[in-house]
Amino acid sequence: MTAPYLSLKPLVPWKQLSRPLDWEAVFGRRAPLELEIGCGNGEVLVRRALAEPGVNLVGLDHGWPSARRALRRINLAGAANAKVLQAEADLTLERLFGERSLSRAWCFFPRPWPKPRHEPRRLLSRRFLRLLNSRLARGASCTMVTDRRSYLEWSLAQAQGSGLEASWQERPPGLDSKYERKWQGEGQEVFYELTLVKREHVSWPVPEEPVLHYPLITKLDPARLEVFEHWGETPVMCKDVLFDAASGRGMLRMVVLEEGLEQAFYLELLPAEGGHVLRPAPGCGVLPSLGVQMALELVAERLSA
Ligand SMILES: C[S@@+](CC[C@H](N)C(=O)[O-])C[C@H]1O[C@@H](n2cnc3c(N)ncnc32)[C@H](O)[C@@H]1O
Repeated sequence: MTAPYLSLKPLVPWKQLSRPLDWEAVFGRRAPLELEIGCGNGEVLVRRALAEPGVNLVGLDHGWPSARRALRRINLAGAANAKVLQAEADLTLERLFGERSLSRAWCFFPRPWPKPRHEPRRLLSRRFLRLLNSRLARGASCTMVTDRRSYLEWSLAQAQGSGLEASWQERPPGLDSKYERKWQGEGQEVFYELTLVKREHVSWPVPEEPVLHYPLITKLDPARLEVFEHWGETPVMCKDVLFDAASGRGMLRMVVLEEGLEQAFYLELLPAEGGHVLRPAPGCGVLPSLGVQMALELVAERLSA
């Protein structure tokens, strides 16, 4: 049976808050803000939160199973200074944290994606490290631990030109995270710790979110409501469609890919004065972006008779 998260109170409802987040309001106090990227089951996060009660600690993971386990641990430990963010690392850093807002960042055992063709999936890319730099306070640092020498070396190369000064050392096990225990159980006794210290600021403002314009389709042709793929600088895909002729209402399942932002969401089509209006379905948690606006316009154009 899946262990319950116990309470959602430590989960940050970031889609409902204005971005970048007001972290002092989220925690209800002013304190140095730290981020653990890929916190997994939250055990390291909770240990640090209990050991450093003066710090506001955010554990980030894109997977609900991990976020759920982290929530459970925070709730069981009563660690009021720890919160969980279920989101993508790229999006989180770019949109939820302002420049120079983090006093520390951690990343333990990021997925190494060792195959060369999977290199674009590796987390600590040059782009990501420049973004991370912009979110770190002056002189602040990020510590990363990996089991792979090749990932360490790749990350060292990525750090060049990021404004972060890199140093590394071998370290014995001692973190006691799930993945450290996993590799230790397979006989690994040496891990690699990379420290990145901010030396020079990289400017990367939080992008402004556009106000979405909902198109009005004056003459709808329901026969044109079908799945499509639009490949260009911003790929837009319509994966599924539903239309109820009796009520004149429709629903489209969309995927939009932008740099550092992949969104899956629904658009709804509703009868309105003068035609049909197309808009993101309430509750689907879409972030307003130029790609979403483009999706709205593409669909409206396709559906117009
Ligand atoms: C190999 S596990 C390590 C977990 C934990 N730090 C440990 O040491 O046991 C990597 C974690 O990072 C999360 N993750 C991977 N890519 C991510 C991304 N782009 N954004 C947020 N979380 C990510 C995964 O869901 C997973 O929980």
